[in-house]
Amino acid sequence: MNTTNLHLHSRYHVGAVDPRVFGGFLEHMGRAVYEGVYEPKSRHADEDGCRKDVLAALKRLQMTAMRYPGGNFASGYHWMDGVGPRAKRPTVRELAWQSIEPNQFGTDEYVGLCRKMGWTPMLTANLGTGTPEEARNWVEYCNCPAGTRYADLRTANGSLSPHGVKLWCLGNEMDGPWQLGHVPADQYAIRAQQAAKMMKDTDKSIEIVACGSCSTGMGSYMEWDRTVLEHLGDAADYVSLHRYVGNHGGDTPDYLAVTNSIDRQIEEMDAVCRFVQARRKSRKRAYLCFDEWNVWYKNMQMDGEGKVAPHLIEEVYNLEDALVVAGFLHSFVRHADCVKIANLAQIVNIIAPILTRGDDLLVQSIFHPFEMFSKRRTGLALRPVVDGPEYEGKTNGRTPFVDASAILDGNRLHVFLTNRSLDASAPVCVHVADRMVRAVESAELLTGPGPKAENSYENPDVVRAQAYAGMTVKDGRARCDLPPLSLLAATLTVG
Ligand code: AHR
Repeated sequence: MNTTNLHLHSRYHVGAVDPRVFGGFLEHMGRAVYEGVYEPKSRHADEDGCRKDVLAALKRLQMTAMRYPGGNFASGYHWMDGVGPRAKRPTVRELAWQSIEPNQFGTDEYVGLCRKMGWTPMLTANLGTGTPEEARNWVEYCNCPAGTRYADLRTANGSLSPHGVKLWCLGNEMDGPWQLGHVPADQYAIRAQQAAKMMKDTDKSIEIVACGSCSTGMGSYMEWDRTVLEHLGDAADYVSLHRYVGNHGGDTPDYLAVTNSIDRQIEEMDAVCRFVQARRKSRKRAYLCFDEWNVWYKNMQMDGEGKVAPHLIEEVYNLEDALVVAGFLHSFVRHADCVKIANLAQIVNIIAPILTRGDDLLVQSIFHPFEMFSKRRTGLALRPVVDGPEYEGKTNGRTPFVDASAILDGNRLHVFLTNRSLDASAPVCVHVADRMVRAVESAELLTGPGPKAENSYENPDVVRAQAYAGMTVKDGRARCDLPPLSLLAATLTVG
């Protein structure tokens, strides 16, 4: 393959990467909470009943905003069921996933876990079967000083200081007919506007995420978002986007080109925000909160059959999935001007980078790209110009073999490069127009023996990131030769 030239300039940037783009999502679904982060009977349990092995693995991902408790679960959840003495909490029939919810893990346990992990709490209020008032009461429970009913309930439950939850999502996928309490856009918009007002009246410092279209394939895509944003006006700090992708056609090159359509989804959604802002003649711009994203298409087991912690959507990931996950992250970095929050859906067992089986734990392929980006996430996102060989993706169009993003942090330049070719290595030269590349501080490469290679409990290191010595610096430029189907993350010193 001919050389791909990546052209950068330190002044051509799109703004600082918001750390909250490296968020996660923990839903009461399947074995994400019970047997995932929380398993008091496990030999790995800590004093709060959390699994130390799971938390240690998640720590490596340095996640930020952690969305909870759903997802579809949120639309039938009444937060009061999950607070107070555990023995008195009700066991309920959970309708989103046809499971049984014992409510042994709730708001206070979740906030405690966030503190332990350094995560930023992010709660999804129930705007399906719940009321705006119930949502406002939850804000009081979490954020107000003692002295009024719900704040006093929190102190009675053992948390004297407020939990300080700043990020609140107004419902989940409310445009989907599968959602409990699904309504047309204008009805959701009225509900959301009322909730936002009462919630912000209770705590002015909170930030609100309006529920956007759940998928680009919905008939109401864009129209839903326009209606909701116009109704909510300046009360909407963010609007949500969701996206799950998969290799449905069994066509790896086209699958790897899906990044094009993620770029497009972000740009379309940002266009709606700007359109509404202009129409309303407002100074306030709503930003994007990509609060569910991942690969998900193989395991569609979604019926919990009346069990507690059933095995649901425990997707097993391979190398091509990991490269697609890297594609999402490239796209978020390239759109740092408008994507301010993003949540990998999810964190353990449910479509997750980590699986548990009894006391064992498995790190899946998609864990690695997240970790490689996350530890290099600080700085200004540069505008990458990629000049190199391309191919035609069947549904995703013209695509460069090399996908790229870059973050400049003072004199450190973080470069992320994916080679999407199945069989050819890709020589790449990194140019920074107004700087000289001086040295390679660190470089790691993720690859594996073929697109379908996956990790298993028996062979856990088939797809993994390893230190890479193949990046060289000469005449102020960095060069490397990326193996087929690989991701490189490197930190360079520039002067
Ligand atoms: O992440 C799994 C589910 O996918 C979420 O609960 C829902 O919001 C989406 O459809």
